[in-house]
Amino acid sequence: KKSEGWSALFSEPMSELVQRYTASVFFDKRLWRADIAGSLAHADMLAAQGIIGASDLAAIQRGMAQITQEIEGGQFDWKLALEDVHLNIEARLTQLVGDAGKRLHTGRSRNDQVATDIRLWLRDEIDAIRGLLRELQAALVDVASRHVNVILPGFTHLQVAQPVSFAHHLLAYVEMFARDEARLGDVRSRVNLLPLGSAALAGTTYPLDRERVARTLGMDGVCQNSLDAVSDRDFAIEFTAAASLVMVHVSRLSEELILWMSQNFAFIKIADRFTTGSSIMPQKKNPDVPELARGKTGRVVGHLMGLITLMKGQPLAYNKDNQEDKEPLFDTVDTLKDTLRIFAEMIGGQAQADGSKAGGITVNADAMRAAALKGFATATDLADYLVKKGLPFRDAHETVAEAVKAASDRGCDLTDLPLETLQRFNASIEADVYEVLTLEGSLQARNTLGGTAPAQVQQQIARHQARLSGA
Ligand code: ARG
Repeated sequence: KKSEGWSALFSEPMSELVQRYTASVFFDKRLWRADIAGSLAHADMLAAQGIIGASDLAAIQRGMAQITQEIEGGQFDWKLALEDVHLNIEARLTQLVGDAGKRLHTGRSRNDQVATDIRLWLRDEIDAIRGLLRELQAALVDVASRHVNVILPGFTHLQVAQPVSFAHHLLAYVEMFARDEARLGDVRSRVNLLPLGSAALAGTTYPLDRERVARTLGMDGVCQNSLDAVSDRDFAIEFTAAASLVMVHVSRLSEELILWMSQNFAFIKIADRFTTGSSIMPQKKNPDVPELARGKTGRVVGHLMGLITLMKGQPLAYNKDNQEDKEPLFDTVDTLKDTLRIFAEMIGGQAQADGSKAGGITVNADAMRAAALKGFATATDLADYLVKKGLPFRDAHETVAEAVKAASDRGCDLTDLPLETLQRFNASIEADVYEVLTLEGSLQARNTLGGTAPAQVQQQIARHQARLSGA
């Protein structure tokens, strides 16, 4: 129909290039399920309101059932000339059931139709992504629960700072992903609202029951302004912003995994199936998966920039610019889902028949420990020890700096300095100082809420386990 022109109003057909330029069917056909669900809910309401007959509704339902089968079976003939998913499905419906098909579009426009389709599709994808975020959190908690007493150096400025539990370190990421999950839940509440009934921009002359359609589609309510409903894509932008944050968290984790895997750290290994070799260097196992995840973060942040820029100059109401919302949105969802799936398995391992997991990250506790012993990671503990003996903290800080310098000059650790040497820096130092200078002593001492003491970490693990099991 389109290739011959839209209506009697048009004096010439579209050129092939313009047709290709304006068509979206080759990417928006992905919305077909949402499109059919929206149409069926709309038709059901039209019949209930007496706007179309019961036999029209039955014909539409019959036609849509067949179209569903055709699409699922790969037999549906998508036509570029019909521009988009909406016109393709409607044209086929009319071909199958005649006039009833032509009545479907009563009180509706593609403007409120497409806005509804994206919202329905995105709502379900958000639910899937939140599920995957929980799986990744569960994988991290699982690895953490087995490594509470493994100690590695915590860094600031990537310089050795203070020893921390490896479990505590992993749980920092669980906090980030838990916030991401909550943030997406919040986004969902603004995605899951119904534009249908706004028609092209001003509302419709038919007595539509919008609340009924919203209920049928499992939506939380209806959009309250027709101009806004058909034209804004802020829900897609905020989804992409939340997705960008997920990727930023994944990217930070990736950066650490890559560092930890390098020979100079050797803190962990990941399973071979997540690495690749080199075509020239036979010894190589490269962390391609975390590297790509770090790289794909740029791609998702780019989609956020694309969408937000798409919106900025548009006058109310709908403009064709909005057709450009789909590819960035689809790619964001695909990238996010693949990344989260791969990370859950790479970290936590693969589920086995007996319910256990195999093949997650392997931890080299000795290498972590050796690294924590290297950079005077317990210097703060010595300062705290002196404070307990009555020194003001600033003086203790200075005293310990002198002790660190002495140890550094000798090429040894604070624990290697004999008691007499330590006492030269401050006479109140006694033999019990060596307890606070150990890595374990340092961890135990940080026994406040949110701290790295094993007792605190155990409590956090229990809290996350209860939360993630749905308790
Ligand atoms: N394919 C269009 C989109 O993605 C559907 C809406 C078109 N509406 C219109 N009046 N041209 O936005």
